[in-house]
Amino acid sequence: MWGESLEAVGPEPAKISNEEFIARQQRLFSQLRPNDLLIVTAPHESTRSNDVHYPYRSSSDMLYLCGWQDPEAVFTAYNDDGNWITTLFVQPKDILQEIWEGRRPGVEGAVKDWPIDNAVSHEDLEDSLSEMLVKCSRIVVKLGVDSVVDGLVDNEIKSNSRDRQKFGLGPVSIIDPSRMINELRLRKSNAEIELMRHSAKIAAQAHIQAMANTKPGVGEWQLEGIIEGLFKYCKTSGSAYPSIIGSGENATILHYTVNDDTCDDGEVILIDAGCEYNGYASDITRSWPVNGKFSEAQAEIYQIVLDAQLAAIDQCRVGNTYDAPHNAARRVLAEGLIRIGVIAQDLEEALGPDGDLKNWYMHNTGHWLGMDVHDVGVYRPDDEPRLFEEGMVITVEPGLYFGAWRPDVECPERYANIGIRIEDDVLITKDGPDVLSDDCPKTIANIEALVGTA
Ligand code: GLY
Ligand code: MN
Ligand code: MN
Repeated sequence: MWGESLEAVGPEPAKISNEEFIARQQRLFSQLRPNDLLIVTAPHESTRSNDVHYPYRSSSDMLYLCGWQDPEAVFTAYNDDGNWITTLFVQPKDILQEIWEGRRPGVEGAVKDWPIDNAVSHEDLEDSLSEMLVKCSRIVVKLGVDSVVDGLVDNEIKSNSRDRQKFGLGPVSIIDPSRMINELRLRKSNAEIELMRHSAKIAAQAHIQAMANTKPGVGEWQLEGIIEGLFKYCKTSGSAYPSIIGSGENATILHYTVNDDTCDDGEVILIDAGCEYNGYASDITRSWPVNGKFSEAQAEIYQIVLDAQLAAIDQCRVGNTYDAPHNAARRVLAEGLIRIGVIAQDLEEALGPDGDLKNWYMHNTGHWLGMDVHDVGVYRPDDEPRLFEEGMVITVEPGLYFGAWRPDVECPERYANIGIRIEDDVLITKDGPDVLSDDCPKTIANIEALVGTA
């Protein structure tokens, strides 16, 4: 059923190489002090009920620095005479556990195939980490992720050992490495870009399949099944976030995820869905008429949002501020709503803090995208807007939402329950914006040509 989509996605790109992981580690270490102990943690497995766990996903920082995906991992690094020595704590080999839950690389497999110097069984975490802790003067760790590590760090900081008193040994402060790691993650390498492009290509095909399978009477959940089935068929780990599949008034709820309604003739459906491929997210939204033909009113709103999106994408250029796309989108949206009589204010008023634009457009136009769908990276370092650089990836996702169910505003009847968002994933390059998700149709003509054709 999905062979054509898979073919359109194209061959799988290379995974991140161990050389690249080591280069990432070195870039981080170059910002540390010789007496630092770096500890990178991952969440514990979480129980769904009894002995059933939620699918495990490690922390993005763990995946970024060494690619280790299994639970109970802790990555550490300390400096030994100028060299940074890395140690990964891993689940040990355990035949019984492996019979039930799957093979484990164990200590030997980890050290052989992963970009680390040493591997140690997680069972020895307490002893080994405590030994490392007493030798450092600063602990570089993000607290609040692994309660066991937090406890060991806390103990060590509080301890009043003889060595500390006599020789001044032992950690005296904790710093969070997130800012340093986030800055690295914000700028994508060529290998990361290819993974993100692949992720976006899969998500684009999923939207194309959903459009083709949309007809009055189809269930939101059925389109969800098609989208998420294709994600799996294309060898992703699944959705990067819960799919938003909203028809009619559900399209006016920004993060609607119930997806249990039937799509009716005359409604618009909004689908916001993306996958995670080898650790990298895509995030695409498209909106289309359930019956395959935009009504006049729907087309008016759609075209305003599309014009806003194109104006915003055009702002995704090296040297522009991160909020230039947002400002451009808001301006085009406000102009459009004034033109069609929804806003009875002048442009500057409509855009201002008391302006009416926010009644119909109440979110930002984008966010960083990478290993996390809402990816890391401070937008206003030192309280100045960040400037776009090559290799950053940002979503561009303006929308207009006319929820007739809302008691707080009076919805114009002509546009009742029209919800439109158009979202693409944009890479900043020296040659201008590169839309990673541009396989996904978005002009009115291209969408109408596709909806309901399956
Ligand atoms: N999919 C969530 C968002 O677009 O931010
Ligand atoms: Mn988004
Ligand atoms: Mn989205």
